[in-house]
Amino acid sequence: LNNGLARTPQMGWNSWNFFACNINESVIKETADAMISTGLAALGYTYINIDDCWSAFLRNLKGDLVPDHKDFPSGIQALADYMHENGLKLGLYSDAGALTCQLRPGSLFHEIKDANLFASWGIDYLKYDNCFNLGIDPQKRYPPMRDALNSTGRTIFYSLCEWGEEDPALWARPVGNSWRTTDDIIDSWESMTTIADLNDKWAAYAGPGGWNDPDMLEVGNGGMTKQEYRAHFSIWALMKAPLLIGCDVRNMTSDTLEILSNEEVISVNQDQLGVQGRKLFSEGKDGCSQVWGGPLSENRVVIALWNRCSITVIITAKWDILGLKPSSSFTVRDIWKHEYLPDVFYESMEAEVESHNCKLYILTSLESKAVN
Ligand code: GLA
Repeated sequence: LNNGLARTPQMGWNSWNFFACNINESVIKETADAMISTGLAALGYTYINIDDCWSAFLRNLKGDLVPDHKDFPSGIQALADYMHENGLKLGLYSDAGALTCQLRPGSLFHEIKDANLFASWGIDYLKYDNCFNLGIDPQKRYPPMRDALNSTGRTIFYSLCEWGEEDPALWARPVGNSWRTTDDIIDSWESMTTIADLNDKWAAYAGPGGWNDPDMLEVGNGGMTKQEYRAHFSIWALMKAPLLIGCDVRNMTSDTLEILSNEEVISVNQDQLGVQGRKLFSEGKDGCSQVWGGPLSENRVVIALWNRCSITVIITAKWDILGLKPSSSFTVRDIWKHEYLPDVFYESMEAEVESHNCKLYILTSLESKAVN
């Protein structure tokens, strides 16, 4: 969507993966405070997004949405002010249907009224869900909210949550700043790997202004190992996915914070070129030994060696599968270890990778024209 936003994928936090409906204004404020005190906000995670369940079950007599008075007694505008005073942005949630997934009122046929209300509160981001959609084509339901947001005069990030049902990558670029390509993620290795593969298919449609959204991060929620979370974060960064933290940032382990605050991995995601990296090669049982990669700005390349097998394996990335001239030479930096490998590499590189881990490298060409 050409609204000046999403030149790189959005970064921030969202309440759903950890809190589901157990949200209130203290949780949101404490999360904002923690995003700042941990340094995550300064790394670019600036959208603080409230998901479903902020709203009361009924509109008021004027037909306006109202925040649940028990959990959000000070109202949404107070939270938006709090974010803005602290250099953050506030995101809110609604639904392109009759009801939200948790049975709050939806915005279908109320787009102008609701967009005006959201803008009057000062929100900066809208996630727009797909429940209770009355069987109406999403290409009819999503543009009206885009137009309503646009006419408010406030610049609001528009995140489509259509679950990939009607292949939004094919039509959503002029509609939203990102579009979900799959069903909801759950905090498991199986869900994360399945979603990575499904999202890969739509790589060609991502770019500045609009991104494929394989759903929010589960890093830190406890259902995967440290290696698996590192792989999750590596591949989401490489796929130019939104980096929306989904854990309780008030109570993170040092491992979780270390993963989420890896500046070099974040820089892959936020690279100006904005090309979604892809799965380029796989071999072994069920293709468990994988090479993912893609171009970065300044004649650099990112490569992930991702071991989805149950044992340690050696994974080789050949330059030709990356679209590179075999004769070209590169220096290689391991961006999880934060160190350059001692050698210059020609034709290929390889590394031993532990089960379910993912090594991530940035290759810098020693010539001016290494990319074919
Ligand atoms: C849907 C969305 C989720 C979340 C929930 C909230 O399942 O896909 O991301 O917003 O609704 O009810």
